[in-house]
Amino acid sequence: MNKNDTLVKTLFVGISLCLVCSVIISSAAVGLRDQQKYLKQKDQQSKILSSAGLLTNQKSIEELFSAIEERVVNLDTGEYEDSLDPKSFDGKKFEAEDYSRDPLTSIKLTTDVDISSLKRRENFKKIYIYKEENEIKAIILPVRGLGLWGTLYGYLAIESDLNTIIGLEYFSHKETPGLGAEVDNPRWKSQWKGKNIYSSTGEIKIEVIKGLVDPESPEKKYQVDGLSGATITSRGVSNMLSFWLGELGYAKFLNRLKEEIERKESLNV
Ligand SMILES: Cc1cc2nc3c(=O)[nH]c(=O)nc-3n(C[C@H](O)[C@H](O)[C@H](O)COP(=O)(O)O)c2cc1C
Repeated sequence: MNKNDTLVKTLFVGISLCLVCSVIISSAAVGLRDQQKYLKQKDQQSKILSSAGLLTNQKSIEELFSAIEERVVNLDTGEYEDSLDPKSFDGKKFEAEDYSRDPLTSIKLTTDVDISSLKRRENFKKIYIYKEENEIKAIILPVRGLGLWGTLYGYLAIESDLNTIIGLEYFSHKETPGLGAEVDNPRWKSQWKGKNIYSSTGEIKIEVIKGLVDPESPEKKYQVDGLSGATITSRGVSNMLSFWLGELGYAKFLNRLKEEIERKESLNV
């Protein structure tokens, strides 16, 4: 037997190897944390721009995003919450289920209204506005809700009529590739452009239907094709739009903004 071939030496080599590897992995994880955070932020910015059709190859994401105005909205009043700085605003903190149950930061949702399985709804949301010559061209609203395997997080961009959709983009979800993850398929996403949210009486009508939209249907302007084999994800998308565009979501803010836009328009005529 080789004199190095002892249990103690084998264990020593094994444990040393484990230690060295764990030090390398931990240092890489810590060292790359800032870069990960930066890349995640860039990715979100690109989704925000893309939802509003503003992502082009001509300029960097940073440059394009500098044209976007960020504001924090108080969902209960519909007003801007200027006491919260959008630059340092951490929306995740308000979303977290285990975050303070303080009703000042989030409210508990009862099952009859919690159609997107959020459990709690944060009282403040950071929203994004794109203007051209001081005129609003797009409002970009963060939305989230349960799909099949977990929560989908995304951005819904709407025009200044606050009814016409520009686009819907997800930046995070756990849905199955080829099924629910088809929410990222450019062909499916392209259907959102031009769809209407509300009926003439103000009812939320937009939905992902089961099957394909009938081109002859009078409802087609409110409908998007279902994701085949992914009815649960499709329903999740419809539910999150209904929730976030409804009274507990952005409805108060959108109503207030609509008045503001109309007032401004009447002054300009
Ligand atoms: C491995 C696996 C992954 C699935 N992933 C999804 C998914 O991401 N989204 C979804 O809605 N349904 C998914 N399903 C299907 C659901 O379990 C369910 O059958 C389906 O939503 C019903 O939709 P359909 O009526 O369009 O067939 C998956 C099923 C399996 C077996």
